Amino acid sequence: MEHILVIHGPNLDLLGEREKEIYGKTSLPKINNLIRKRAKELKIEVRIKQLNSEGEIVSILGKERRWADGILINPAAYTHTSIAIADSILAVKIPAVEVHLSNIYKREQFRHRSLIAPVALGQISGFGESSYVLGLEALVWFLRKR
Ligand code: DQA
Repeated sequence: MEHILVIHGPNLDLLGEREKEIYGKTSLPKINNLIRKRAKELKIEVRIKQLNSEGEIVSILGKERRWADGILINPAAYTHTSIAIADSILAVKIPAVEVHLSNIYKREQFRHRSLIAPVALGQISGFGESSYVLGLEALVWFLRKR
């Protein structure tokens, strides 16, 4: 059974209240239920964390590096700024899929650049809560084809 570490970055705890026209009405607990349901069907084990600070994300990647076979991450605003998170993904050498609820390329210019994409297996952006499910499927497909 593969182990997948799911990380939600800053402000994603406010989903369902936060800019609903962009991120939708679904709350984080509901998204986590969707992830858990699909994980069960795919026969994988997930650990899900929401962290607001960059340092905590770096720490959890280090802490879970021996447990995790794959990483599903929505780095939120840190997508566009964090060399530290990109370095951690490189350091732990665990395949990571980057996901976004919104299509970051359709939005402000500063969201068009991801510092995480160059160190990720791939990116899924713009499918709302389904981005997480699609990301999970992509990660499992990758891990099982190896
Ligand atoms: C986001 C997109 C980011 O630009 C933004 O800072 C977020 C959420 C998304 O899921 O669409 O907080 O990662």
